[in-house]
Amino acid sequence: MKKNIIAILLALVLVFAMTGCGGSDSGALKVGTEPTFPPFDTTDEDQNIVGFDMDLISAIAEDQGLEVEFVNLSFDGLVPAVKNGDIDIVAAGMSITDERLEQVDFTDAYYDSQLFVAVPVDNTTITGIDDLTPDMKVAAQTGTTGAAKVQELYDQGKIKEAVILDGLDTCMMQLINGDVSAVINDKPVTETYMKKQPDKIKMVGEALTAESYGFAVAKGNEELLEKLNAGLANVIADGTFDELIEKWFSTAQ
Ligand code: ARG
Repeated sequence: MKKNIIAILLALVLVFAMTGCGGSDSGALKVGTEPTFPPFDTTDEDQNIVGFDMDLISAIAEDQGLEVEFVNLSFDGLVPAVKNGDIDIVAAGMSITDERLEQVDFTDAYYDSQLFVAVPVDNTTITGIDDLTPDMKVAAQTGTTGAAKVQELYDQGKIKEAVILDGLDTCMMQLINGDVSAVINDKPVTETYMKKQPDKIKMVGEALTAESYGFAVAKGNEELLEKLNAGLANVIADGTFDELIEKWFSTAQ
């Protein structure tokens, strides 16, 4: 009798160990991001990774009975990391582009965005991209669509230097300090930096691009892609998506 109970207890321990109940590395999906991109990807006072993307992917995972944990990487490291299996999902306000579609698969789009030129609020000479001149330095975050635009301007001889930096926070700091003349970045994120530090930065001119964000997975990981798309559709249908928009876009984060 006693032996049976011990055997049953051992079996239970084994089952819990295998299914990872209560464990921390319980086979949770690794979600990679780069958190200087508020309100999509940012950090709280305790340096936890938080944001609209984190809440959205968590809601999608919960809907699909999956668990997620967040991994902090540089933006240009995200596609390589999902390709080599270090992470399962990219949730980083990542625009669905043809170049990236050659390397990874994307879910359905969840947010429409645009690139804009940002300048110091007191600048009166730059009213759009055509006012950038060959004596100017222009910054963007490494690996982003904004950086591709800045590189293009440089290659065309239209600016003096493409200042490609790791964090978007550094780009914005350099803009405020006058180290660079302009930053090219996603509109909703520049708007959030404008709210965080009022009267420092403004956007000028027309939208340079129209882009849509999706979550990326390894090429051919159809099982995960289908779950993420199903979960996304469900959290849109049940109102969770709109609640998260309200939570993250109504105040400066
Ligand atoms: N949407 C732009 C891109 O895909 C910028 C994304 C930057 N995201 C971030 N988490 N830093 O290139």
